Amino acid sequence: MAGDAQRSQQRPIIHAVKGTRDILPDEVAAWHRIEAAAREVFARYGYREIRTPIFEQTELFARGIGAETDIVSKEMYTFADRDGSSLTLRPEATAGIVRAVIEHNLWNADPALRVFAMGPMFRRERPQKGRYRQFHQVNVEVFGVSHPAVDAEVIEMALAYLRACGLGEDYDLLLNSVGDAQCRPAYVETLRAALRPQASRMCADCQRRIETNPLRVLDCKVPEDQPIIDALPKIADHLCADCRAHFDAVKQTLELLGIGYRLSHRLVRGLDYYTRTTFEIGSGRLGAQNAVLGGGRYDGLVKDLGGPDLTGIGFALGMERLLMLLPEPAVPSRCDVFLAALVPAAMDKALKLQSELRSRGARVLIDYEGKGLKAQMRRADKLGARFVVMLGEAEMQSRAWKVRDMSASAQEDVDEGRVVEHLVSRLDRRG
Ligand code: HAM
Repeated sequence: MAGDAQRSQQRPIIHAVKGTRDILPDEVAAWHRIEAAAREVFARYGYREIRTPIFEQTELFARGIGAETDIVSKEMYTFADRDGSSLTLRPEATAGIVRAVIEHNLWNADPALRVFAMGPMFRRERPQKGRYRQFHQVNVEVFGVSHPAVDAEVIEMALAYLRACGLGEDYDLLLNSVGDAQCRPAYVETLRAALRPQASRMCADCQRRIETNPLRVLDCKVPEDQPIIDALPKIADHLCADCRAHFDAVKQTLELLGIGYRLSHRLVRGLDYYTRTTFEIGSGRLGAQNAVLGGGRYDGLVKDLGGPDLTGIGFALGMERLLMLLPEPAVPSRCDVFLAALVPAAMDKALKLQSELRSRGARVLIDYEGKGLKAQMRRADKLGARFVVMLGEAEMQSRAWKVRDMSASAQEDVDEGRVVEHLVSRLDRRG
């Protein structure tokens, strides 16, 4: 029949969308490890988890992150909902968290609110090593604490987290202050005035940014523009007294805590909400996309998004990038007990034993294919089984089953009635 002929034809494969990737079962243990480390380390610093939606109203990001940033102007996945409203897949977590904090008055109950979040973010960037269109962040935010010690504490926690994940001391901490509403407008004008005479020699993006948002020029990576950018006035020389005092105190606290850093006057970061402290942690081992983590203070954002005048500071870490830096963990065992039913008549007993052992918490698998002993042992080995229980003709007769301890390469006969207790106690003892 025509339908059958059609069905038997090879159908084309549907691939994952460019810039997205599957996290396969063998990789998941590494993800669990860095997620567990986040929960454990952040709890020590008083943080609780928050989960906000993956899509939000487009205006939240346009207003929060800044219309002139690359993220908002060219990287957002924005779509019209059926009622005509404009929605966007979150390109970062901070704006959504701020919205939730305002919407639920979270600062009322907790004036020094500390929250963290983990999950996927979406940016339509050009995919390359360490840069994806769907990627995952661990995100941390503190609201309502303007004391500079908290800036240092947030950085200390970022480093404690990297250490807990096994990164060691293989990182570079960059630090800057981008000023605030008092001093930044004058610096931006100084920058614009210094840039205008150079504009014709700079890249098209910089030419536009000189007019729209000159701070973004400091982010430019075009090689020909670098000598011009290096000679520009530095924001550190244009901070107001309050911002300077805050920055000095952050640096002193970092020194007090024994945390080394490098000042980087070009660290303005890719989002417009920052005020005062900005920081990034990178690793030379990552290549071009070398930032593992970035963050800073955003004292005006809550108010800009319609909330109270509440200060904020936080960071986000790219989970794919962190995992690129960590040694791959061994694939963990999936099985405590492998049941090898070696004759068809043994299958019913094996099924009952499997069910009982699983209800006692053991991880158990049976080979349903009825393969020979050798093939089943190979399979048990591949699964990392700690014990293999063999049920063959002789065991059926004697009602004593062969239990093989795979690590000790030893086996013993265990009475059918005792086999569950025997295995459960052996598994408990070995943790
Ligand atoms: P961000 O610098 O845009 O900051 O992103 C933080 C981290 O996310 C980067 O350092 C990088 O590791 C990772 N990341 C960003 N884009 C990609 C991508 N396309 N592929 C893979 N990884 C990526 C923020 O998102 C701010 N919300 C951080 C923050 C929180 N500031 C204050 N609070």
